[in-house]
Amino acid sequence: MQPVKNFAPRVLAWFDEHGRKTLPWQENKTPYRVWISEIMLQQTQVTTVIPYYHKFMMSFPSVEALAQAEQDEVLAHWSGLGYYARARNMHKAAKMLVDEFDSEFPQSVEGVCELPGVGRSTAAAILSISRGVQAAILDGNVKRVLSRFHAVPTWPGEKKTENAMWELAESYMPNERCGDYTQAMMDLGATLCTRSKPQCLLCPLESDCAGRQTPDPTQFPIRKPKKAAKPEKSIQLLVLMNQQEQLLLEKRPQTGIWGGLWSLPELASDESIVLHIEQRFSTQVSSVIPLSSFRHTFSHYHLDISPSQIQMAAANWIMEGDKYQWFSQQEALALGLPAPVRSILEKII
Ligand code: ADE
Repeated sequence: MQPVKNFAPRVLAWFDEHGRKTLPWQENKTPYRVWISEIMLQQTQVTTVIPYYHKFMMSFPSVEALAQAEQDEVLAHWSGLGYYARARNMHKAAKMLVDEFDSEFPQSVEGVCELPGVGRSTAAAILSISRGVQAAILDGNVKRVLSRFHAVPTWPGEKKTENAMWELAESYMPNERCGDYTQAMMDLGATLCTRSKPQCLLCPLESDCAGRQTPDPTQFPIRKPKKAAKPEKSIQLLVLMNQQEQLLLEKRPQTGIWGGLWSLPELASDESIVLHIEQRFSTQVSSVIPLSSFRHTFSHYHLDISPSQIQMAAANWIMEGDKYQWFSQQEALALGLPAPVRSILEKII
């Protein structure tokens, strides 16, 4: 894969005319603001991110404000965006920046990569966009553009292919306008060189694009070799109500799905609800109403969820310990809840 001349100037000229320049994180491009945007934009569309970004910046306008916040408060701002490890890592990284880096962002890609949740491409995006550092990105968009432009014959997830693409990406990074170039490559991938309907006739790289000369440019990037279907898992979730119409939530462990979020108590799919509650909570049930079951799909498995609403018999039933807590329905909805739990509660309330 030999680099082609004039790559960056063509991309930059296209960006000047057609690139995105009014996204909220393109105003006042501090490392902090760009960092938060890049984390939110991992696995999430621009239009979904925008309202979350505004709200997040209102509540946590600086790295100090984020470092001082409670984890629950940070997760509540993430509720609905999914992939909650992003929020937990970001919160940890904010504390690290304040405690160990004197609230200053590191200057090098290696330094930024020390922050939890930040890989090489994200670090390069943050530094090039906010400070003009000459560091190339290789995110999904750029992988698509480069794999088409060079008709790369192997899957970019393979280490050897990925290393070769990093070299290409670095070789095209210009000496000047590094931040604009990063944004331009993202925009080219997001708006013209799209996954299924690339608009080759509008592309500044069209005349030298090797993928364009094949019968189907969308065959690039070459797909990952197929793997087995996702496994399926079934659980029950319990909406336990006391006589004050409060509901019981359980704090999930930090690791695993929905780590650190408040969730509904969970039961194996074949366990008896009544027996389980009597044993686990030493109290009696007065009624069990099954709610509609549904499927929630994660990146690596399907989760079939059967929720039930349960009324507790005892009048003044107290739950000790900080793993479980009673919340009014309004309080519960203000917490960082996993999306399927939120949707169960919204249906009941
Ligand atoms: N996706 C990831 N980073 C982005 C950015 N800076 N602008 C638009 N989309 C993005």
